[in-house]
Amino acid sequence: TGVIKLTEQRTLVLVKPDGVEGQHIGDIITRIEHKGYQITALKVIQATKEQLEAHYEDKVNAPFFPELVSYMQEGPIVGIIVTGTNVVPIIHRMAGATNPGQADWGTVRGDFGREWPDGNLRNVIHTSDSPSEAEREISIWFPEESR
Ligand code: PPS
Repeated sequence: TGVIKLTEQRTLVLVKPDGVEGQHIGDIITRIEHKGYQITALKVIQATKEQLEAHYEDKVNAPFFPELVSYMQEGPIVGIIVTGTNVVPIIHRMAGATNPGQADWGTVRGDFGREWPDGNLRNVIHTSDSPSEAEREISIWFPEESR
């Protein structure tokens, strides 16, 4: 009891098209670096439908999935692998709540996101929500970094 197991992890960050268009790439990288984590891979990507279907495999039948695909293809995205001790939950908390209108100030979505007049969800960033999901997602966007 009381033993906290600290483990080296990798997580995947995707800066979504609204985050790139809004010129938040630098702010997001700065937050990751200020926190003391290492960026171990980074690239600009034009997402394909196949990659999005794989990444959001449990959402392909959701009513919002077509809108999600078109959103994620509105422009380039930036993929970032972040490595460090217990990094997955920490970076997930950096993103904030799914809806940027409800995300706390201080989070990426709370600080850089908002609700849009068309009613569609745009939330600036994706972060993996578990170590196994992170490794699965990394293999989609960074096959060269797959383990
Ligand atoms: S849900 O609704 O419980 O499945 O929500 P969540 O697990 O947080 O969301 C899963 C991913 O789907 C995105 N999402 C949406 N995209 C577009 N439109 C709508 N309405 C919508 N609802 C949820 C959400 O942002 C999650 O993607 P990521 O990339 O992880 O943020």
